[in-house]
Amino acid sequence: MTRYELDDLLDLATRVKGKRPGQVLGGKTLGLLFFQPSLRTRVSFEVGMVQLGGHCINLSSDDLYELEPQEQAIMDGPAEEHVKDAARTLSRYVDALGIRAAARTGTWERDRQELLLRSYAEHASVPVINLETPFEHPCQALADVLTMRENLVSLKHRKLTLQWCNHPEPKGLGPTHSVLQLAALMGMDITLAHPLGFEVDDEVLERSKTTASDAGGSVRVSNDHKEAAKGAEVLYARSWGCTKYWDDPEREAMVKRSLQDWRVDEPLMATTNNALLMHPLPVRRNVAATDAVLDGDRSRIYDQAANRAHVQKALLMQLLK
Ligand code: CP
Repeated sequence: MTRYELDDLLDLATRVKGKRPGQVLGGKTLGLLFFQPSLRTRVSFEVGMVQLGGHCINLSSDDLYELEPQEQAIMDGPAEEHVKDAARTLSRYVDALGIRAAARTGTWERDRQELLLRSYAEHASVPVINLETPFEHPCQALADVLTMRENLVSLKHRKLTLQWCNHPEPKGLGPTHSVLQLAALMGMDITLAHPLGFEVDDEVLERSKTTASDAGGSVRVSNDHKEAAKGAEVLYARSWGCTKYWDDPEREAMVKRSLQDWRVDEPLMATTNNALLMHPLPVRRNVAATDAVLDGDRSRIYDQAANRAHVQKALLMQLLK
């Protein structure tokens, strides 16, 4: 996205939020394919589509054949259908597709390629929306930037700390990568805080540094969460997985045993510049962040969730109207 495109979409989302645009997508159908559970993404897209006069069809991995995304694959394994056939068929029925990919399918080198999503995007003749892969979660980041903009107005030079938090399960890097890239586009001064071994993808980090610098902002990395939180105006908490042990969750769990102090609590929040607390949800209460901060007056976690519907309605209007 360019900065112009981002501002345009956020402005439309703000207008959509203030005044319902009516049945502008009457007769349109959005197909949603979920290869992972979802509460917010599924409900916010369904509600948004209905409010615009259209409707959704939801399919989960239990409803679908196992799919082969590789080109020229010899399909003598478990995959019953090639993505190109599913994508071309679905394009005859629906006006847009949303896809949430599986959390982990192999190595990080494989999962960072978003094979299933990109194969759908290549072969479908309708727009394909990323509903989260291990690599990116753009709809979440759009809602997050809208939430920050509503609270801080101008985001240029605002201090955002993207804070790794502990979590018993291995998580994807989607929300972190997407928030990092959009916050960089807004010219924020970003501190990415994580323990050693939980580095984000090199290419995303380097691209974000360049984007932030071009927009007048900055990106730095800290391995000390207490130092990173100091002076933050937004503290965005999220766990993400160790790419080195991506296909070895037990090894990652062992590493995380010594990282239990990587959580957001009131003493940490007190060192910030009265920061907004953000988290994309679902959140492990009293592991990633304490009840006191999640339920505190600086928490914006439900505004982020609510804004999912508004930005996605704006996106659907741009794609389908
Ligand atoms: N934040 C988010 O995408 O939530 P769900 O997993 O519930 O959709």
